[in-house]
Amino acid sequence: MTGGVPEVLRTLARSARRPVVLTGAGMSAESGVPTFRDAQTGLWERFDAASLASPDAWNTDPAVVWAWYQWRAGLVRRAQPNAGHRALAEWGERTDLRIVTQNVDDLHERAGSVVAAHLHGSLFEPRCSVCGTPAGPIEPLTEPVERLDPPPCARCGGPIRPGAVWFGEPMPTGPLDVAFDCARTCDLMLVIGTSGVVHPAAGLPVLARESGATVVEINPDPTGISHAVDHVWRTTAGIGLPALLTD
Ligand code: APR
Repeated sequence: MTGGVPEVLRTLARSARRPVVLTGAGMSAESGVPTFRDAQTGLWERFDAASLASPDAWNTDPAVVWAWYQWRAGLVRRAQPNAGHRALAEWGERTDLRIVTQNVDDLHERAGSVVAAHLHGSLFEPRCSVCGTPAGPIEPLTEPVERLDPPPCARCGGPIRPGAVWFGEPMPTGPLDVAFDCARTCDLMLVIGTSGVVHPAAGLPVLARESGATVVEINPDPTGISHAVDHVWRTTAGIGLPALLTD
C-alpha cells in the first residue's frame, strides 16, 4: 500500500494508455447530490427516486415529475465538483482519458473534464415531450415544491420534459455507441460509484474485460458487478481518486 492506495492499482493507473472511467451517482455523492438508492429527505421523502424517473410517473402526473427534476437541477447548480471529479480532470490532462457517465449532472464538466458520453442524458437539456424540440435553458428551482406545471414548447405547445433518460426508455444511440467503443478499446476501466444494476451501462465493465482491459471497481459498498471485475477498492470517489491519481 502507498498512502492507502493498493500498489497494484497505482501501477495500473500509471501505466494505462487508454483509460476509461464509468461513473454513477456515487461519484457526485460527496458533492451533496443524493444517489438513487439513498432515501430522499424533506418534501420528497415519500417518493422513490427510481419511480419518479419513469414514463409511468410522467404519464400519471407530469407536474410532480417536472417539480422533482427542476429541484434536482437546482441542487446540482448549487453543488460543487468534489475532489474525485477534480482528480479525474487532472488525470485527463496527462492521459488519453475518456469519461462515460450515467449521471445527469454537469459536475465532471465543471471540474474541467470533457465527458465522452452522457448515457442517461442531462438535467440541463430539457426538450418537448411531443415534438422533441430542445427547450433551451430553464431556470431551476431553489426551493422544493410538490408540483410545477411543465412549461409549453415554443414550437408545438406540448409539455417540456426533463432531458434525462427514464427507466424503460431506450438510450440515445450516439452516447451508447461511444460508450461501447470506449469499453472495447480501453486498457483500464475504473468503475466508480455505480450500483451496476441498470443496463446497458452495467454491461460495459464486462465488455471491457472481455476486450482485454483490466477493470477496477471503486465503491464503498458491494455492487451488482463486484464479482465481475479484476480488482475492488472499497473507498469513496472523493477519497480514493485523489489518492490514486495524484502523483
Ligand atoms: N463514492 C463512490 N461510490 C459511492 C459513494 C461515494 N462517495 N457513495 C455511494 N456510492 C455508491 C453506492 O455504494 C452505490 O453502489 O454509488 C452507487 C450509487 O448507486 P445508484 O444510486 O444506483 O446510482 P447509479 O448506479 O448511477 O444508478 C444508475 O439508475 O436511477 C437510474 O438513471 C439513473 O443513472 C441512474 C442509474
